[in-house]
Amino acid sequence: MKKTVRITETVLRDSQQSLIATRMPFADFEGILPEMDKAGYYSVECWGGATFDSCLRYLDEDPWERLRKIRAAMPNTRLQMLLRGQNLLGYKHSHDDVVEKFVQLSIKNGIDVIRIFDALNDFRNIKTALEATKKYANKRTIASGCISYTQSPVHTVEKYVEMCKELKEMGFETICLKDMAGTMSPWEAEHLIKGIKDALGDTPIILHTHCTTGMAYMTLTKAIESGVDVIDCATSAMSNGTSQPATETMFYALAQYGIDTGLNEDVINKVNDHFKPMKQKYIDSGLLNPKSMGTDSQALVYKVPGGMLSNMIANLKDMNAMDKFDAALAEIPSVRKDLGYPPLVTPLSQMVGNQAVINVLMGERYKQISTEVKNYFKGEYGISPAPVDEALQTKILGEGGQPVDCRIEDAKRTGEEFKKAKEALGDLARCEEDLISWICFPEQTVKFLEARKAEAEKVVSYTIEEA
Ligand code: CO
Repeated sequence: MKKTVRITETVLRDSQQSLIATRMPFADFEGILPEMDKAGYYSVECWGGATFDSCLRYLDEDPWERLRKIRAAMPNTRLQMLLRGQNLLGYKHSHDDVVEKFVQLSIKNGIDVIRIFDALNDFRNIKTALEATKKYANKRTIASGCISYTQSPVHTVEKYVEMCKELKEMGFETICLKDMAGTMSPWEAEHLIKGIKDALGDTPIILHTHCTTGMAYMTLTKAIESGVDVIDCATSAMSNGTSQPATETMFYALAQYGIDTGLNEDVINKVNDHFKPMKQKYIDSGLLNPKSMGTDSQALVYKVPGGMLSNMIANLKDMNAMDKFDAALAEIPSVRKDLGYPPLVTPLSQMVGNQAVINVLMGERYKQISTEVKNYFKGEYGISPAPVDEALQTKILGEGGQPVDCRIEDAKRTGEEFKKAKEALGDLARCEEDLISWICFPEQTVKFLEARKAEAEKVVSYTIEEA
């Protein structure tokens, strides 16, 4: 077995995103940052994902300012972010110049590790972000290629090995398997990690999973036995349930095997002590739902992620059609096959689930086709993992119709978004970061910047009165 396995701490990003919908304000963790800086983590995931939107929309914080403050308080730790390739932090496709500027500013404001993924594993969608990372990299920068993990007849070990090789050839320095639904089993982890390590040699492999279905500790154990280099964990107060396995638990378990995590025992326990009262506060306020803290094995029974299942049940209840539940559930694998087995993550999970419900309710498959499915066939989401159903493609695109790369062409337009941002913000914008915030989340950014301006004017008028 390996002698060293490093740990990424997720409490500041994925853990709080999964448990409390990314509502953790900076003030709740500011005090522990200097301590966290001494823990010896491989990295601290603290930015990107939903944190950016949440800062502007709910927490009245400038996400860039948050990043700079974390950077200042943790000079010795690798800071990590999650980036959705060409979509940056949302689901909207961005132009290349916006992607490039976003990456440049992320590095400038303090990010070291940029973990880049695409929901469909269409690697054309992560190429621009990778190139920008290389272009603006400093000595600490790491470009991490990330694969959305899913199970299907076409997602074999060989297929994953092929994807990893492609990411390595593209120039990524580390590769992460991202099991967002927490459905990777110990057996799958063993075969996957062995296969990937055999094929890739020295490239560090990272495993990211969630405790949602209860598999995660077993899965991590098997992955470690099979040679994984880095695992994602969350400090125990903010672990388990829909979050990651507990950092301290893995530390103690691995220590007995003589596996060095590089972590300082006292420090990681102090970090946990800090978050215990925070957790209680989130429970008391109702922000942390007990459901998120438990184990939900339904995803293993039905082979669909928990969120997708509850969404489907809500839809059927709305339509008074719960008697069609079993039929709709059975229809999901067929729709997914017709779409070329996309990973069941947002927005694909909703797309597949809704079409399955439509097919069952109409009593005839694809009598009615949702706009999202039509756009998917047109190529708006990227290339499907396996070929789509030909008859359905003909039905949607016409005889001989093929998906087009409109998004890739569209991405080459430059300057437009920045021009629009400058016009919309006027003197509200103080820096390039403000423009990027507006391009990503226009309404929230205007609201935030207007409040910032009002606050600044208040300060000025007080100063005058005092004088
Ligand atoms: Co995750």
